[in-house]
Amino acid sequence: ATDPDPDTFERTLAADERVEPRDWMPDAYRATLVRQIAQHAHSEIIGMQPEANWITRAPSLRRKAILIAKVQDEAGHGLYLYGAAETLGVAREDLLDALHEGRQRYSSIFNYPTLTWADVGAIGWLVDGAAITNQVPLCRCSYGPYARAMVRICKEESFHQRQGYELLLALAKGTAAQRAMAQDAVDRWWWPSLMMFGPPDAESPHTRQSMAWKIKRHSNDELRQRFVDICVPQAETLGLTLPDPALRWNEERGHFDHGPIDWAEFKAVLRGAGPCNEQRIGQRRRAHAEGAWVREAAAAYARKQRDRRTA
Ligand code: 3HC
Repeated sequence: ATDPDPDTFERTLAADERVEPRDWMPDAYRATLVRQIAQHAHSEIIGMQPEANWITRAPSLRRKAILIAKVQDEAGHGLYLYGAAETLGVAREDLLDALHEGRQRYSSIFNYPTLTWADVGAIGWLVDGAAITNQVPLCRCSYGPYARAMVRICKEESFHQRQGYELLLALAKGTAAQRAMAQDAVDRWWWPSLMMFGPPDAESPHTRQSMAWKIKRHSNDELRQRFVDICVPQAETLGLTLPDPALRWNEERGHFDHGPIDWAEFKAVLRGAGPCNEQRIGQRRRAHAEGAWVREAAAAYARKQRDRRTA
């Protein structure tokens, strides 16, 4: 990086311009971005597991093809994001070690099981929908490589959300058993999807600083509220109910009021006590070990190519 230049850094932020990898930046800004981008990448990679669980059991070739494309997209999102993190001077291997050793996180949402085919629809509609609500503002993040990775990721997330919604609509308009399966999935995925946005603003240690650095453009509660306001009419169109009897339009606020979120459950999942934490991280570690030969072969091939060029 160039010489310490806080004035330029502050001016760049004030002008809503982008901080680029070679610009000077405060160490804490760099550390916050490594933390958030790495954990975002880990979420994408771990997120492949609950969805992949239904690839071999998709009810039609069309649904199977869509699901395979979606899981493949998630892997790609992980790679873009590890690439963005590496522009901050960290090595992908170290980030993966941190994930495997529990020193870095992935999104709480992926610690829940996918029990029926309808879960694939609920994940697309709710989880990818929440991801879009959270990630569109990140396209305006002050750090260039992260903001640019988000632009492409958001486009692909929109397809993920659309296919999930359409899958649920097919079930909700289907037989009574299909409708019941869709309703059961929405009942199980609604509250964990609200938790994806993070703890309440009053209990968020990072929000204030992240907003000052224009990494976070809206607070956790603001985006959560935006997501609830989007989902209520969509649930009505689906003919499904959201599992919150306190949900009601508040004319004064111009938003939907909703019931209390179970933050004890959120904290338990973050502590590793969610339904699938052990399974997800165990599968991740196994996949990493089984993939060692691929990494070694790719590194050997790259060395050969380099030696040929310099021979
Ligand atoms: N799951 C796990 N950890 C969470 C969390 C969640 N849903 N929400 C918050 N946390 C953690 C934070 O990482 C932080 O812990 P740390 O200091 O050890 O990192 C702590 O709880 C306090 O939370 P804060 O709100 O203060 O932290 P942030 O300012 O980082 O805000 C965030 C949390 C809103 C998730 C923010 O990090 C963010 O916007 N990240 C980028 C988006 C992202 O990671 N999305 C993952 C969703 S899955 C996905 O996108 C895949 C798609 O295909 C569905």
